[in-house]
Amino acid sequence: MAKEEKTFYPQRVWNDTEGNPINAHGGGVLYHDGVYYWFGEHKADTTCSAMVGVTCYASKNLTEWENKGVALAVDADDSESDIAMGCILERPKVVYNKKTGKFVMWFHLELKDKGYESARYGVAVSDVVTGPYRFLRSGRANPGKFSLGVTAADIAALDTLVEERLAYRTAEWQEAVKQGLYMKRDFEGGQMARDQTVFVDDDGKAYHIFSSEENLTLHIAELTDDYLYHTGRYARMAPGGENEAPAIFKKDGTYWMITSGCTGWAPNEARMFSASHIMGPWKQHPNPCVGTDAAITFGGQSTYIIKVENRKDAYIFMGDIWRPEHPNDSRYLWLPIRFQDGRPVLEWMDSWSLDYFRVK
Ligand code: GAL
Repeated sequence: MAKEEKTFYPQRVWNDTEGNPINAHGGGVLYHDGVYYWFGEHKADTTCSAMVGVTCYASKNLTEWENKGVALAVDADDSESDIAMGCILERPKVVYNKKTGKFVMWFHLELKDKGYESARYGVAVSDVVTGPYRFLRSGRANPGKFSLGVTAADIAALDTLVEERLAYRTAEWQEAVKQGLYMKRDFEGGQMARDQTVFVDDDGKAYHIFSSEENLTLHIAELTDDYLYHTGRYARMAPGGENEAPAIFKKDGTYWMITSGCTGWAPNEARMFSASHIMGPWKQHPNPCVGTDAAITFGGQSTYIIKVENRKDAYIFMGDIWRPEHPNDSRYLWLPIRFQDGRPVLEWMDSWSLDYFRVK
């Protein structure tokens, strides 16, 4: 095999094995039975809405990807469907449930023609990794539940918080946001769920991590044993910190999370957090990116972190360089994670290969 084929070229057009540009944005990778499966948003040329659905590609070496087709199709026939063609369907992530033997896909869903106001999660399931996935439902998360650790006194204090009384973006408003202004507002109907990922821990428990509370606060929500529902247990992370695009991995017992700020398709400075328990407390670290364009994450935004098999301490940061004028020409930003004093660091590279990592 030519060396060329085993090289990652961040930001360049990345073709699949048939020579067509890979169309799998805001994606994630699942490793199953010796094969990596890349799931992502199919993007069209002139709209960011979902006209096709979630695509799937397969690879053994992470550089050459075979197109496996559409894993979850939007509904082209029923305009009333939650996933009607033209809805917004973003950041799909697939996990495998060892107990049920099923593949479960979670994604961010915005109902057709409603902009970003729905703020729902969506979930779909399949017996076969590549699909077709069957859409199960969409909704807001954890209705009728407060986050972990909320006491009766906190609830009494929350009751005094009324959105209309607070001038937007004032210090008083910031404080109310931290206390849970929007968690309380959405208590009955359920919590907003936008940019998202799913993480399966070593003990088999899975967590849905998403931007909630008007994108001001991340929620880390435990899933049921079958990975199909929220259990009602969730933690609020970096309240009022305005984090999106969560990507997480675990190394030597420490959870690391890389996120972005909230500037839509425009890149901003990545943020990094660590914790020794997934439900926190989380500690914030400096921007993991270094060098030229570190302040704009090299033009990209996090979406997932891949653990590379058979290599030592090998993790790949997976990001998107968005091109909203031509969404399908958005590019991929895959960079190896380097550890410096035990902390993840990201550096721009024009090209690199898996030789970057030591063989186990
Ligand atoms: C980004 C988000 C994307 C998409 C976009 C829409 O901040 O990470 O997934 O939702 O906003 O403007």
